[in-house]
Amino acid sequence: MPDHPLLEFRGVRAAYEEVEVLHGIDATFDEGGITAVLGANGAGKSTLLALAAGIMAPTHGEVRFDGERIRAGSPSTLARKGLCLIPEGRGVFPNLTVGENLWVMTHSGATRRHVEQCAFDRFPRLAERRYQHAGTLSGGEQQMLSLARALATSPRMLLLDELSMGLAPIVVDELYKHVAQLAAEGVTVVVVEQFARTALSVASSAIVMANGRIVQKGAASAVEAVLHSAYLGRTTPQAADSV
Ligand SMILES: Nc1ncnc2c1ncn2[C@@H]1O[C@H](COP(=O)(O)OP(=O)(O)OP(=O)(O)O)[C@@H](O)[C@H]1O
Ligand SMILES: [Mg+2]
Repeated sequence: MPDHPLLEFRGVRAAYEEVEVLHGIDATFDEGGITAVLGANGAGKSTLLALAAGIMAPTHGEVRFDGERIRAGSPSTLARKGLCLIPEGRGVFPNLTVGENLWVMTHSGATRRHVEQCAFDRFPRLAERRYQHAGTLSGGEQQMLSLARALATSPRMLLLDELSMGLAPIVVDELYKHVAQLAAEGVTVVVVEQFARTALSVASSAIVMANGRIVQKGAASAVEAVLHSAYLGRTTPQAADSV
């Protein structure tokens, strides 16, 4: 094991224009396993991922990947080092077919045959739809395609922003089975979710954010217990699922 975490935030603050939205984040993500990052709308989850992916620079503090300070504006360098972000909304080209969406990923050096084979072995539903425009796939199939595209780069760390958005619970469960499988194969995963239950069911550790700060962190089971007790007594029983 290396002596440093795979991803680390040290005293990180971030702002859009003059408005600070992250107010001092300290967090470490060790190699292996799945970390759930939970929190309500506007808590700062996507901003955290944008900093990790080098899309945005902190105003204070630093973000490190594999021991090296991330320089914002160098997402392609980070991709080569093995960090891959699937942003909120589905990262597919709607007007290209499934096959063409995969083909685009050969820029990372893999052959078309290899990228397709890996994608279709893991997601047979994509093989049946290889000539279909990605925009006409179901939401769950589009997320499968996003995952398949990300995997074409053989990432060490995968950052997934709201994989479940707009999808039926049964589809979300299926996607999370794939996420668990990826982690079992050695990919370190960070999943951002507003809805806690499914993410916590596969995660080993968890972070809860509120208003630009981390308000809980620890083992997924411990965080789940705290969330559960915090919501006991609320009028809506579903509330325990949303933090
Ligand atoms: N491009 C932007 N310009 C200005 N403010 C922004 C921008 N993006 C995000 N913000 C603000 O930063 C704060 C954190 O937003 P962020 O998108 O990180 O939250 P989130 O936890 O991902 O929320 P959600 O669950 O709704 O996706 C919010 O107050 C949001 O309004
Ligand atoms: Mg977000």
